[in-house]
Amino acid sequence: MTRKAPYPIDKREWHPSLIPGPIALVSTVDAGGTPNVAPKSWLQMVAFEPPTLMLSGSKGGRTETDVLATGCFAVNIVDGSLVERTFACVQWRGEERIRRSDFRLVPASTIRAPLVDDCKAHLECRLVGTQEVGSGFVLFGEVVAASIRDDLLALEPRARYARLDQALFLEEGLYAAMDRARPATSESMSDHFIRYVILLTVERPQLFHEDLVRAHVAHLRRLEEQGRLELCGPFCDRKGGIVVLRGVSETEARAIAEADPFVSSGAETCELRKLEVSCRDNRHMGMG
Ligand SMILES: Cc1cc2nc3c(=O)[nH]c(=O)nc-3n(C[C@H](O)[C@H](O)[C@H](O)COP(=O)(O)O)c2cc1C
Repeated sequence: MTRKAPYPIDKREWHPSLIPGPIALVSTVDAGGTPNVAPKSWLQMVAFEPPTLMLSGSKGGRTETDVLATGCFAVNIVDGSLVERTFACVQWRGEERIRRSDFRLVPASTIRAPLVDDCKAHLECRLVGTQEVGSGFVLFGEVVAASIRDDLLALEPRARYARLDQALFLEEGLYAAMDRARPATSESMSDHFIRYVILLTVERPQLFHEDLVRAHVAHLRRLEEQGRLELCGPFCDRKGGIVVLRGVSETEARAIAEADPFVSSGAETCELRKLEVSCRDNRHMGMG
């Protein structure tokens, strides 16, 4: 038996956190129509049919009071770009919180509570039940509508995680970025560890100018946004550079290499290599 140390049962003393929760901005409206936005991370699905989630808060909180008054709330998914604002927003309350945090509210499609437009995905919920559990007050919401930024849907399913970049609450002052999906089975794992390495060699230095470099960077930015760029950069000890791609086929990798403005302009030539990554996740290709 492996040795285990006793661990606190109080979640606030967990370092590391054992149950990280998705960070969301929960938006509500009171009976008079005044909106409210509050961060929540004790959030989980509880049923497929009908799609139902739960979030835990405290009775008497503004969010909970609004939900009891109007029977609805929206769960707005927080990504890495919103984390700082989300953690900081709790120093204010009510409408001042929305104003100071610069949260943009827009109407939802099916409920009175607004959506936080800064977020990339939203779940619109109708209250279907409540439950007091010790100091906690759980709201159950049926998901009646959902929406997500359409540029995300243009990506392959696995690459969408990079673009969504969902944030998980770990503990005060710490969050985790859920920016990469990994296959759970060893069969699909083999593709998961394949990378395509594009080696770029300078051929015609006289062709380099600012517009060409900007076009090359725009090409890299596109790959980054598609979740296909693992790393890139110029070599420091020779002329040329490297672009490492993930989640692409060999044909796609070749097309990407040839579409690089450095290559299509003739300033550089490229060589494509297929790499199987050896790392802790694949126990160094099963050998370590
Ligand atoms: C990242 C983060 C996650 C939070 N998660 C929860 C939660 O799951 N439940 C809760 O009751 N409070 C949570 N809080 C604290 C509430 O957001 C805070 O008490 C807020 O003032 C409640 O606002 P309200 O009274 O307007 O509803 C969290 C705060 C942060 C910054």
